[in-house]
Amino acid sequence: MSRLVIISNRVAVPKAMGVAGAQGGLAGALNSALKKHRGIWFGWSGEETDSFTGDISIQRHDGVTTATMDLEKQDVDEYYNGYANSTLWPLFHYRIDLTEYEREFGRGYERVNERFAQSCSPLIEPDDNVWVHDYHLLPLGERLRSRGIKNRLGFFLHIPWPPTRLLVSLPYHERLVQTMLHYDLLGFQNNEWLESFLHYCRKELHAEVDEETGRIELDGHVTHARAYPIGIDYDHFMAQGQTGDAKQAEQRMISSTRRRTAAIGVDRLDYSKGLPERIDGLGRFFDQHPERVRDLVYIQIAPPSRADIGSYKKIRGELEQKTGQINGARSEVDLVPIRYVNKGHSAAELFGFFRASKICLVTPLRDGMNLVAKEYIAAQDPEDPGVLILSRFAGAAQQLTDAVMVNPHSPDDLSHAIKQALDMPLAERKERWEKLIVTVRDDNVIRWTENFTSDLETVSRD
Ligand code: F6P
Repeated sequence: MSRLVIISNRVAVPKAMGVAGAQGGLAGALNSALKKHRGIWFGWSGEETDSFTGDISIQRHDGVTTATMDLEKQDVDEYYNGYANSTLWPLFHYRIDLTEYEREFGRGYERVNERFAQSCSPLIEPDDNVWVHDYHLLPLGERLRSRGIKNRLGFFLHIPWPPTRLLVSLPYHERLVQTMLHYDLLGFQNNEWLESFLHYCRKELHAEVDEETGRIELDGHVTHARAYPIGIDYDHFMAQGQTGDAKQAEQRMISSTRRRTAAIGVDRLDYSKGLPERIDGLGRFFDQHPERVRDLVYIQIAPPSRADIGSYKKIRGELEQKTGQINGARSEVDLVPIRYVNKGHSAAELFGFFRASKICLVTPLRDGMNLVAKEYIAAQDPEDPGVLILSRFAGAAQQLTDAVMVNPHSPDDLSHAIKQALDMPLAERKERWEKLIVTVRDDNVIRWTENFTSDLETVSRD
């Protein structure tokens, strides 16, 4: 078996994972993937340096070898806070209203991609398979090729791919997408994003596209694009559920909610997650069913994320205001309807919180996949499972079709779903959960890794 070199913005060492590290996400998933392969994981250290050196620090952490480099403050501002998270992230989540098009962001993005190529190419051996991840590094394949790297290069996009009519608002969009055609294999979370990508290549680049096989040819470059829905590390998460931390978290939640039904949401504090819209839905439920305020307590865990970016500061303020309004209007001396927690929690604690919650709200306005939805299902008691309320705009909705589906923009729809979940009989809860758990258990992160890497090794290069 060839060695696997994984390249992503963050790697799974505590500093580089950021505050939201335990809330699922790419770093956790790849950590599990890499444990099964001999290989190395390269990324940004999460540290800033005065002047870029390209020096690499190698560490072994939790059974995985990581190699990291530091970036300059200007790199972090222009590449991470700038082009990746103020241009591509909002645009790829269909938020053209929040998308910033600054020339220096684009320059910083290109410079940092070149820095990634410079620092990691000496680590790549001739027989390695190289797997690049996410929107921070779209042009990295082309940068590696220009340094003479001939290895098989794969790329996986963890977030949605936007419709062509939105993507064309990005200055130099053709140049950006053309760089992606230097990879041998491109992976997307589901068919919707895959079809959007193929449509763009046909319509804007005039590439030769075979919709059946996903083969794309342009100017002598051949690449293949396919859908690979990511899953959770099921065995690892279930093992977390057996720990003292998980049991304690479950008990804490049960004893603090007593006779009320606990509903939970766990999301990075990000406008794509639909948090203010979700709180509006809860407010509508309380308005429509005031007699049920005593039946429900909603716990929102929302660790802050990308806190230097204006749109993220704004969403935090908005959420605090909305939660405060509802609690002000609906609280009693012995009752607070919404608990809003800003800190992150370990996977074991989340397992316990999920198990004690009879409802989980996963209602993003747009999401590549959403692994919280899958973790919630995994953590349920088979004899008394809770109900997953899932946005039809999450990538996970294409697989978890037995969840209660909602339009997260509609407070009435959310209110109706909450009522339906509260009143759902045990037999229906079991019937839905028994179907959901099959996908969550079987389409796990190990299978995802094997599917992608075996295609990368065998996909035709002409
Ligand atoms: O997949 C989206 C993503 O950017 C991942 O790369 C990452 O794990 C997660 O969101 C958290 O974001 P950040 O790395 O910016 O904290």
